[in-house]
Amino acid sequence: MNKNQFLWGASTSAFQAEGAYLEDGKGLGTVDVRVVPEGIADTKIASDHYHHFEEDLLAMKELGLNVYRFSFSWSRIMPDGHTVNEKGLAFYDKIIDRCLEYGIEPLPTLYHFEMPQALVDKEGGWLSKSTIEAYASYAKTCFEQFKGKVKTWVTINEQLIASAASDLHGIHAQSEEESMKNMYQISFNMSIAEKKAMQILKQIDPESKIGPVCSIQIVYPNSCDPKDICASYDAEEMMMYSLLDMSVFGHYPKRYTSYLKARGWLPSVSKEEENLLKSIRPDFIGINYYFPLTVKAPGKDHDFSKLPPFWRSTLFEVTDNPYLEKSEWMPNGMDPMGLYLGIRKLYDRYRLPLIITENGMAYSDRLEDGKIHDSYRIDYLDAHIQKIKQAVEEGYPVFGYCPWSLIDLVSSHQGFGKRYGLIYVDRTDTDEKECARIPKDSYYWYRERIKKGL
Ligand code: BG6
Repeated sequence: MNKNQFLWGASTSAFQAEGAYLEDGKGLGTVDVRVVPEGIADTKIASDHYHHFEEDLLAMKELGLNVYRFSFSWSRIMPDGHTVNEKGLAFYDKIIDRCLEYGIEPLPTLYHFEMPQALVDKEGGWLSKSTIEAYASYAKTCFEQFKGKVKTWVTINEQLIASAASDLHGIHAQSEEESMKNMYQISFNMSIAEKKAMQILKQIDPESKIGPVCSIQIVYPNSCDPKDICASYDAEEMMMYSLLDMSVFGHYPKRYTSYLKARGWLPSVSKEEENLLKSIRPDFIGINYYFPLTVKAPGKDHDFSKLPPFWRSTLFEVTDNPYLEKSEWMPNGMDPMGLYLGIRKLYDRYRLPLIITENGMAYSDRLEDGKIHDSYRIDYLDAHIQKIKQAVEEGYPVFGYCPWSLIDLVSSHQGFGKRYGLIYVDRTDTDEKECARIPKDSYYWYRERIKKGL
């Protein structure tokens, strides 16, 4: 992390890009066994990055990137959650070596929405203390293997989503009440695991940097009614500050604590865990930002039960924002200002360097004469980069930008209909074809934008 050089990058994640889901000793991951709706692509082939990685890295070099944010597949490195698969490590060795040869800094994430299914089946997954230990030992293996090559690490991608989405962490509760309780316990256990990883890294490679990646939830009040303003404050605290306060300060915000306690959802903390949580802070925070939320004070008839778990709070109700432009896959609206506000809010609260680890525009891109004319994506990325530039000029320490995603990937839940890539991957949900790569207009635009500097 060279403070004087802005990092221009792009992001992917293992399960969304690699495919080769059982190749070279890889074990089944939680994401490989989930039930995917008929007609939607799964992780088996994904973007076939496992077999196209040389081509993808060359495209990155030609794009002029100097950072690559990707993730390790835990089940490729440790198929059963404990035993090392040398061929799995060798795959990431090849990626990292090639990155370094091309002058691209590797920025791996240890946990991006997936883990060995064996840990869930045999040990209870993230609800168990043994999984925390397994994560720590997996992190140690990676730190030792890539010491001297990887200088910046991400612990966990989007703890909010990772702890809430049962199809990602693989733990399926019997009731809604149980799933809510699980979510907060899983999240707490992830916080413990993350701190252990931070401590281990500092013992193995004290010069390296490590931090979490947060899906920042920038929340606008629906009106200037103080009740709506309080609801927006609560929503940001529930979905963003609670997680980052734990990462940075080692405790939850007060109102969050009392909300969970009143419902019997507050995880118990031992003295030893309390000490661990406060023992170490991250070196930076990664920001994933796509769109903001707008909320109001909940109405009497508001039905929470159908909402995603992290929105299922009685403190706020998500509502529409008529001021924001909507698009096919972004019904909440697009808003570069939200990124600018997020940078300010996070820096002023935590005083840590920031990197944008994901930001992108989903679209059902279609090939026209062998090309993708994605001016909508160019507009989206350009507007967000402008806001980062403004923040940097005002003195906020944002040190890099990694749009989501380098290549088209299987989206977390909507397959290949929903694309974010700078490079088109020629396959559909039901026909894998050859997964040929075709740079989109946004790829060529980004190459020129990088040359200009921030
Ligand atoms: C982030 C994740 O939540 O958003 C990615 O880190 C994900 O893994 C991305 O793909 C976009 O979300 P989706 O659901 O459209 O794939």
